[in-house]
Parts: sequence; structure tokens; C-alpha cells
Amino acid sequence: MTRVAILISGGGSNMLRLVQDMLAGGHAEPVLVASNDPEASGLAKAAALGVPTAAVDHRGFGRDRAGFEAELLKPILAARPDVLCLAGFMRVLTPAFVRQFEGRMLNIHPSLLPKYPGLHTHQRALEAGDTQAGCTVHEVTAELDAGPVLGQAVVPVQPGDTAETLAARVLVQEHRLYPLVLRQFVAGDRRPVFLDHVQ
Ligand code: GRF
Repeated sequence: MTRVAILISGGGSNMLRLVQDMLAGGHAEPVLVASNDPEASGLAKAAALGVPTAAVDHRGFGRDRAGFEAELLKPILAARPDVLCLAGFMRVLTPAFVRQFEGRMLNIHPSLLPKYPGLHTHQRALEAGDTQAGCTVHEVTAELDAGPVLGQAVVPVQPGDTAETLAARVLVQEHRLYPLVLRQFVAGDRRPVFLDHVQ
């Protein structure tokens, strides 16, 4: 059974959908949910579903990114994951960390990459006057938000949208897209999944 570890930083709504889909589908096993924030509320949600959790507070490491990652790697490697999913994980990982999982590390980003890598994606789409927004699941490579696209969901921008209303509409599609992409990825299928807005 494919072993999947998930990294979160906050509420973990995407993590929750991934775990629920794995438990329902039986196509993979959620072996760990880890966070850079011991207070991340997603940790309790994972534990409630019986998934082992771990947390390493990045704030204790200051600018020592490598030191933080060395500590975070301990519970991750102990869980022996085949696949590592970033889901609302808000720390930039070093190329050294990524290299250990290259080809089996996924992330979900709240924009239609390659548009708007980085932060504040919805605000940037609104400011650009885009009529469409959305989310992307991609393989993680050393370059931020730039790896091969494994799936996208398109969401229309509506008149009067704010970054918050757009983010909420996109998040609904993230929750549809990520589990679908992970199922395909685990099955060895790398064909990109494209979801159009359904409602
Ligand atoms: C959301 O903004 C989502 O778009 C991005 O990370 C944030 C938190 O997601 N992927 P989650 O609820 O922690 O999964």
C-alpha cells in the first residue's frame, strides 16, 4: 500500500480531504501529518482520524532553514512515506530537502500556474482583472511553484469578488482536485487532471 505523508501549517482542509479520500478509497495509507506549527488546528483533525502526527516549530530555528528541515525530516523519514503531499504548508523548502523526495512530492497552489507563483494569488488575479482563477496541483521541484502540473481546476471570477470570496470559491475546487490527482499519482498515471467550474 502506498504510504502518504502530508505537511500542513494551519487548518489542513486540504489534508483532511486527502486523508478522508484515502480512508474511503483504500488506494493509499495516510502515515503521517506533520506541521511547522504545533498549534496548527489540522493536527487535531488528523489525530481524530487516527493518523499519526508530528510538529516541529520552525520559529525555534530562526533563519536556520536547514536545521529546521533536519528536525522535520526525523518524523517524516520514520514514517517511511512513498509520497509527500504539501497541503497548505507555508514554509519554502530548500532544494536539499526537495531532492530527497523529487518525483514523489506534490503541492497544491491557489492559482492557475504558471500564473501567480508565490503569495497573495487571488489579490493579484483580481488586480490583473482576470476573469478566471483556480488552483494547481504540481510536482514539487527546487524552483518554487514551478514543477510539472498534475492537475488544475478553473474557477470564474465574479463581479464584486474580493480575495476572500475568490479564495473560498477556489478552496472548494482544491478539495475536489487534490484527492483526484493523488489517486492518479498513486496509480502511476501522470496525465494532468483538468476540472472546469461546475457550479
Ligand atoms: C489555502 O489558502 C489553500 O489555497 C492553500 O493553503 C491554504 C490553506 O489550506 N493551499 P488548508 O485549509 O490548510 O488546506
